[in-house]
Amino acid sequence: VRLDLALVGFGNVARRFVALLGERAARLEAECGITTRIVAVRTRRHGTAVDPDGIDPSTLLTAPGSLDGLSAVRAPASTADLIRQLAADSELRRLVVVETTVLDVRAGQPAVDHIRAALSSGAHAITANKGPVAFAYRELDQLARSRGVLFRFESAVMDGIPIFNLVRETLPAVRVIAFRGVVNATTNHILSAMEAGEPFERALARMQAEGIAEADPSLDVDGWDAAAKVAALGNVLMDARTTPPRIARRGIAGLDASMVQRARGRGRRVKLVASGSMAGGRFEGRVEPEELAGEDPLARLDGTSNALLLETDLPGRLLVTELDADLTQTAYGLVSDLVAVRRRL
Ligand SMILES: NC(=O)c1ccc[n+]([C@@H]2O[C@H](COP(=O)([O-])OP(=O)(O)OC[C@H]3O[C@@H](n4cnc5c(N)ncnc54)[C@H](OP(=O)(O)O)[C@@H]3O)[C@@H](O)[C@H]2O)c1
Repeated sequence: VRLDLALVGFGNVARRFVALLGERAARLEAECGITTRIVAVRTRRHGTAVDPDGIDPSTLLTAPGSLDGLSAVRAPASTADLIRQLAADSELRRLVVVETTVLDVRAGQPAVDHIRAALSSGAHAITANKGPVAFAYRELDQLARSRGVLFRFESAVMDGIPIFNLVRETLPAVRVIAFRGVVNATTNHILSAMEAGEPFERALARMQAEGIAEADPSLDVDGWDAAAKVAALGNVLMDARTTPPRIARRGIAGLDASMVQRARGRGRRVKLVASGSMAGGRFEGRVEPEELAGEDPLARLDGTSNALLLETDLPGRLLVTELDADLTQTAYGLVSDLVAVRRRL
């Protein structure tokens, strides 16, 4: 089956995803019955390419500057209109919108609108962006069900580690009661550097120079990225009906390096811990630096490693760990979402 892809956002994740589709094309076809064709690519500042007959992936990956020159047809100014136009094209019967724009922590926009436009016009939608699940999971999930299409977001939390699929596919009838994890790589790196005595500001500047932290690192160091992950996990796994601003949040910017170093000296470690639980029918989500005992499984994580401890009512406590994540894991999460779409057809 051929899936027609409309890529909204074409940065690090989407580029690795397109490359991975090429690298794994033979296996995807033989084992999953999937071939793909890219029919549109939309960016914020690098133009738009639209061609219902398909855009060559290697031309796309090597195009210098704007993508406009790769277009066979004129694209509407609004991304939602572009999605609706593609979905209305009878030649593109299996359209999948692949949303990888940047996280907006105030309202999850415009990603929520992109997903809404896709689902409401009968296209499937997959995303690596936490915004849609953190802000509008319930609405988008219901919309997808009512239109008979799929909405999937496996790489939004813990990259390619199948945390949502783990619960959905392999833990039927199980209730998740609480979770607790370390889910942000940048703060993990900075805290490790602070343990070695480096002050916060210097550790952060070095992470930026090494390309680990973003140019604007506030999403990470102020705990917003982790809060969006808490909201996403809560909404999907526990029907929390929450949003990132409602997660109690403290980042690592005010932390004193000598405190972090002293904890290390006592065999303990300071980590930015993200957690969620149900109390009296209400979801309580939290992000804050915590000093952990050395034997706590979350204390052993370094760098880009993530872990999430799920507390459940039947199989008890499950620890899911991702060691040394990189872009390939994130791109793989999107590929697994594509396979989920194929299985649904
Ligand atoms: N990087 C990771 O390891 C990782 C892991 C898990 C999840 N994620 C999530 O995946 C998403 C993408 O990450 P990334 O690293 O690929 O980001 P990125 O490199 O900054 O790329 C973002 C892309 O989105 C485009 N864009 C931004 N706003 C847009 C808009 N309003 N309409 C259309 N396009 C828009 C940008 O266009 P321009 O090219 O014109 O700027 C760019 O192509 C983010 O939500 C991130 O949180 C990333």
